[in-house]
Amino acid sequence: MPKIKFLLADGAELALEAENGRTLMETALENSVPGIIAECNGSAACATCHVVLPEEIMVALGPISEHENDMLDFAEAPRESGSRLSCQIRVSDALDNVSVRIPAA
Ligand code: FES
Repeated sequence: MPKIKFLLADGAELALEAENGRTLMETALENSVPGIIAECNGSAACATCHVVLPEEIMVALGPISEHENDMLDFAEAPRESGSRLSCQIRVSDALDNVSVRIPAA
């Protein structure tokens, strides 16, 4: 099970073990990670599951879909690089030891 560290907006850190195949958003909700709202329940329609990932993971995850990229325009303070919708990211061993930043809302 990959270990994922959530870096919260207030500076706190939350380290979790995530289940492969679940989404990063589901992992956050199941563990009550503050700052992940997921109003649309993973339909890529609300941007309230916005996270910021390190550049090396962005490369490993591959390109963002056009729809996700459009939705990120509605996220709080999206970054030019590193912003993703956590509902669109499947947990895999590629995410082991990654730090996921939750932007301040
Ligand atoms: S949960 Fe709504 S966009 Fe991800």
